[in-house]
Amino acid sequence: DLPADITIWEVGPRDGLQNEKSIVDLGVKLEFIDRLADAGLRTIEATSFVHPKWVPQLADASDLLAGLSKRDGVRYPVLVPNDRGLDRALEAGVTHIAIFASATETFARKNLNRTLDSQFEMFDSVVSRARAAGMDVRGYVSMVFGDPWEGPVPIDQVVTVGRRLLDMGCSQLSLGDTIGVATPGQVEAIIRAFDAPDALAVHFHDTYGQALANTLAALQCGVSTVDASAGGLGGCPYAESATGNLATEDLVWMLDGLGLSHGVDLNKLADTSAWMATQLGRPSPSRVVQALRG
Ligand code: HMG
Ligand code: MG
Repeated sequence: DLPADITIWEVGPRDGLQNEKSIVDLGVKLEFIDRLADAGLRTIEATSFVHPKWVPQLADASDLLAGLSKRDGVRYPVLVPNDRGLDRALEAGVTHIAIFASATETFARKNLNRTLDSQFEMFDSVVSRARAAGMDVRGYVSMVFGDPWEGPVPIDQVVTVGRRLLDMGCSQLSLGDTIGVATPGQVEAIIRAFDAPDALAVHFHDTYGQALANTLAALQCGVSTVDASAGGLGGCPYAESATGNLATEDLVWMLDGLGLSHGVDLNKLADTSAWMATQLGRPSPSRVVQALRG
C-alpha cells in the first residue's frame, strides 16, 4: 500500500536557485516563494545561511527572511551548516533548519571543508543549540547513491552517517541523490536498510531521468515525504554533474494519477514555473511544465 497523504518538500528557492550563475533579484525570489505558497505548497525551503562566498546566489538570506510574508500553516526551512549559520538564522527568526551531511569523504571536503568525521562536530553544536531554541532540525545526507569522485557508496556507510544525524536529534532524514545516478532497486535497498520509513524523506536529482521511478520505489517502501523543485530547477555547485531536482510538477502529475493527496494546485504551480523560466531566460526542464505550458 502506498501512503495516502504525501508531503511535498519544495526546494526550488534553495536547491533550485543555488546553482544559478546570475544573481536573481530578491523581489523575484520573494514572489517565487509567495506563488509556491499560493499553489498550495506547505513546506518551502527558502534559502541557506551558508558562507556567501561559497554560494553567492543565496548571500541575501537575511534580507530574504526579512522580506518574506510568512503564511499561517507554511514552513520555511533554511539550510544551516555551522554555528555561524545558526546565529544568522536565529537573528532572522527562523524556526525550521536543515543541516546537510555528506556520506563520503571527498564531498565532505568539497562541500563543507571538513572531513567525513569532523562534519559531525560542526553539526553536534548546531543541532543541540537549535533544539534548545525550539527549532525543528532536518538532516540531509548527500551522495547516498553514488559519488562522482568515489563511485558507488557502501550502504553501511550511508546508514552510519544517517543514523548519527537522527541520534543527534534530527526529526527527519532526507536521502540525497545529489548527482541523480540512483535507480529504483538501490532506493529500495537503502530504505529497507534504515528500517524506519517514517523518519525518511527522499531527495532525487533527475540527471539520468530516474527521479520519478525512484520516487515511486520510495513510496512503495512507505516513505511519504518527497523533495522536489518547481520546474525542475537545481543542482549543487560543489557536486560534479549535478542537474535539476525532480520537478514538483512531474511529481504532482504522478501523485494525481495514483490518487494520493498532496494539496498542490498543478495549474498555479505550472504558471509559477513558466513565469520563473522567463525570469531565468530558459525553458523549464520539467516534462509536465513543457506539456502544460510549452
Ligand atoms: P570554512 O571556510 O571552513 O568556514 O567553510 P570557517 O568555519 O573556517 O570560517 C571561515 C570564515 O567564514 C569565518 O570568517 C566565518 O565567520 C565565516 P572570518 O572569521 O574569517 O572573518 N563563516 C560564515 N559566514 C557566513 N555564514 C556562515 C559562515 N560560516 C563561516 N554560515 C562552510 C565552511 C560550511 C561555511 C562552507 O563550506 C559552506 O558554506 N558550505 C556550503 C556549501 C553549500 O551550500 N552547498 C550546497 C548545499 S548542499 C546540497 O545542495 C545538497 C542537498 O541538496 C542534498 C543533495 O542533493 O544531496 C542538500
Ligand atoms: Mg540537492
